[in-house]
Amino acid sequence: MIKKYAFGTPYETEAVIADIPVNTGDVDYFVTSTEDGLKFSLQLQKKDAVYGLGESVRGINKRGYIYNSFCADEPNHTEATRSLYGAHNFIVIEQADRTFGAFFDCPTTVTFDVAFTKADELLISSECTNMYVYIIEGSTVYDIIRQFRGAIGMSYIPPMWAFGYTQCRWSYLSKDEIREVVRKHRELHIPLDAVYLDIDYMERYKDFTIDEENFGDLEAFAKEMKEQNIRLVPIIDAGVKIEDGYDVYEEGVEKGYFCTDKDGKPFEACVWPGMTHFPDFLNPEARRWFGAKYKILTDMGMEGFWNDMNEPAIFFSQNSVDKTAQMVKEMADKEFTIDDFRTLQGYVGSRQNCEEDYSGFYHNTPQGRYCHKDVHNLYGYNMTRSAAEGLKEAEPHKRFLLFSRASYIGMHRYSGIWTGDNHSWWSHILAELRVLPGLNMCGFLYVGADLGGFGCECSRDLLLRWLSLGIFTPLMRNHSALGTRYQECYRFENPEDFKHIIDLRYRLIPYLYSEYMKAAKNGDMYFKPLAFEYKDDETARHTEDQLIIGNEIMIAPVYTQNAIGRYVYLPEDMTAVRMNQGNLTFTQMTKGHHFVEIAENEVVFYIRKGKAIPLCKSAESTSELNTKDLELIGTGNEYLLYTDDGIGFDIDNPENFVTLKK
Ligand code: NOJ
Repeated sequence: MIKKYAFGTPYETEAVIADIPVNTGDVDYFVTSTEDGLKFSLQLQKKDAVYGLGESVRGINKRGYIYNSFCADEPNHTEATRSLYGAHNFIVIEQADRTFGAFFDCPTTVTFDVAFTKADELLISSECTNMYVYIIEGSTVYDIIRQFRGAIGMSYIPPMWAFGYTQCRWSYLSKDEIREVVRKHRELHIPLDAVYLDIDYMERYKDFTIDEENFGDLEAFAKEMKEQNIRLVPIIDAGVKIEDGYDVYEEGVEKGYFCTDKDGKPFEACVWPGMTHFPDFLNPEARRWFGAKYKILTDMGMEGFWNDMNEPAIFFSQNSVDKTAQMVKEMADKEFTIDDFRTLQGYVGSRQNCEEDYSGFYHNTPQGRYCHKDVHNLYGYNMTRSAAEGLKEAEPHKRFLLFSRASYIGMHRYSGIWTGDNHSWWSHILAELRVLPGLNMCGFLYVGADLGGFGCECSRDLLLRWLSLGIFTPLMRNHSALGTRYQECYRFENPEDFKHIIDLRYRLIPYLYSEYMKAAKNGDMYFKPLAFEYKDDETARHTEDQLIIGNEIMIAPVYTQNAIGRYVYLPEDMTAVRMNQGNLTFTQMTKGHHFVEIAENEVVFYIRKGKAIPLCKSAESTSELNTKDLELIGTGNEYLLYTDDGIGFDIDNPENFVTLKK
């Protein structure tokens, strides 16, 4: 059962699409205070756990830290980070005698102090006094999540090819560079389905333009790539460059589709293209206008997009430049001290994505004029909604690959997300594993990390281990930042080791795709914490470096350097499947603790007792994958397979489910 409560005049975020009447009583479970904003407090016992919060740092159980729900352009994903790119305000609280869910639907900052300030208190607070609160009661954690997911609507379904391995780099600078990436993969038989175009494919970073010199005749190039079963996936950024003669800019100004400053003039801020205006995605007309532009690229053969910088990221505004200049001038007029140096340094550093800028522009929404700060968390969501609706209009019968950096619950209906600018750090493999279940709870199923790490330098062993987790994430993309070591698989010694790992991914696609579709259609999780699956097993409840994928398998990847394996906890008897040099061997293992040796070029995963999974033969792209020729492995005798054409919307056809028998 879901109960809805209203405070003040909440902004209709359209996160929840179910029609739920507003309850007039007090919010269940929490002690509510309306003094100085809104506060919801709950006493926690020592063993109580709090799950959820989607894209956030630290553990699967969120207890012990404080998180700010505020979409942030934040490349430092450390234990101290309070906000990442998404704002996902859904939690499930598990107590000795009751379990319930809560969703705080508010488009500006909400703070979740999960037994951090006080060891026995969960305190959710916001300066904002306009909010819907939903309390969800159910028999199990899964039941609560299923009800919540039902209320927020079905998750985005990508095309089947988006389960292939994909390669990115900021940036491949020309068609020839991309040709070389593809050639190397094909030559070494490393499967590959797509290459991404980062910002340099555009003419001076202007959305919906092409750099003619290096990417001219993109349509012919897309065709050439498609002949090799490779799709191109361009990036689209939120900011539109201010430049006379640039049609997107001129149309947006003429139609009044950009966010405005306090005087009603288009707001200006600097991002990659230089000074830009931000499309007002909260205005439905502007959303339709921007979304229709994606057709420029789909007409050239593009079948997927990634939306970036849509928190929105602001490097600086004119206001910041003026204030900094003034500060420097005042300092220059007197003796410059260490304190001045530090003040200046701190000030300049604090101007990027600063609150003052977010408070300085406005949206023209159907619900009235809103200051950006008050609806901040809806910006990336509505940019991506704009894209999804535009793509649907352009090609109504085709599923596109679409994922975004910023997000809010509700956006999960339109696209996936990637978890942003991580680093080539071992700790970030584990951080990714831990973030995945929370994202699923909030509806985001099509998710994945920059494999190998975006920032810093990637080593061969790190990439191998990272891919060993990445073969199980729906989005499987290797991506790295400008100026870092190139990390395509073929850059390292013995590329066949990478090939074997990625081959295994392709062999698993019938399983991964089926489990994805089941999770989407039933409001279930694709990545499940052991704590949810084995709730009466104390060890399983505290194992946060292993996951259940779908209904049949468990993974326990290696995430430390120079390890020869790792300790694995088996909450039940399982079949260990070991991939070594492309060959699979099976070992029956008993419930309990084991040290499992896993060489860098091996992958080990586990099939649960009495379950079976399908495997196909590998192929160099999903287009060549024969998903009809399947073998069942594991101790079970059957598996419920989902198949469809992988690209259209015939997803509710009951014939898509087939029971495979041994
Ligand atoms: C920031 C994104 O997070 C990253 O993935 C991308 O490569 C750069 N912007 C450049 O577009």
